[in-house]
Amino acid sequence: MKTTKPREPEEEKYIFTEGINYSKTEQTSIWGTGDKDTLELLKKIEIHGRWLNLAAGDGRYNLNLLEKADFVVASDIDESALSKLWQNTPDKFKAKLQTKVVDITKKFPFENNSFDGVFCTGTLHLFPKEISRQIFSKIDRVLKTNGRILIDFATDIKRILPDGKLYIRKSEPQYCLKEAAKFLKELLKNYKVKIVESEVPEEEIKTRGFVYKFSCKFILITADKN
Ligand SMILES: C[S@@+](CC[C@H](N)C(=O)[O-])C[C@H]1O[C@@H](n2cnc3c(N)ncnc32)[C@H](O)[C@@H]1O
Repeated sequence: MKTTKPREPEEEKYIFTEGINYSKTEQTSIWGTGDKDTLELLKKIEIHGRWLNLAAGDGRYNLNLLEKADFVVASDIDESALSKLWQNTPDKFKAKLQTKVVDITKKFPFENNSFDGVFCTGTLHLFPKEISRQIFSKIDRVLKTNGRILIDFATDIKRILPDGKLYIRKSEPQYCLKEAAKFLKELLKNYKVKIVESEVPEEEIKTRGFVYKFSCKFILITADKN
């Protein structure tokens, strides 16, 4: 079913949605076609079994997961984004795709040890440290032993408005690369962790009736559960 109703953001409740009707956006993801290093990693690494795409948005990387995994649950708090993701998924993949509205800050509606992998991009940098700790413990609960986490984490974020002023999301913690790497290693201390440092060159983002130029550094992490 097509869901078009925008999900308004409620930043005090850690709901960082765009408040847009995704069916009115371009067919490609509003977040672009994907970062080079993330796409390369997705091509290269082993992905099998059942994967959870957390805060999947309008599906920027979801097809890359579907090409390799046996089953993908694409979740987001924004039903309109998930509806676009579903509509844009080729029919041949729909039998192994489920979309599910999930608030990443609440208990995940999944069994313990029910996923071989958890994927989350463009999102985890938005939350305060204490909430991030809780999110990582929820991921750990649903991930099988020997399961894999694949995440990115944006740092040193710059959003520039057309008049040259900075657009700052007030609740965002604003990590620098070194601090974020230290924090993530601490959260993943029981995992075998591989880190790639990368950056997003300036790109245009169109949302909520305005446009801004976005750039950041980011950390790409593959973490295997012991
Ligand atoms: C920057 S987008 C990234 C989307 C996608 N992962 C990607 O990389 O293109 C952040 C996503 O987080 C979702 N989101 C924000 N707050 C959330 C929450 N509390 N629970 C679940 N999803 C949330 C938004 O709806 C949005 O789709």
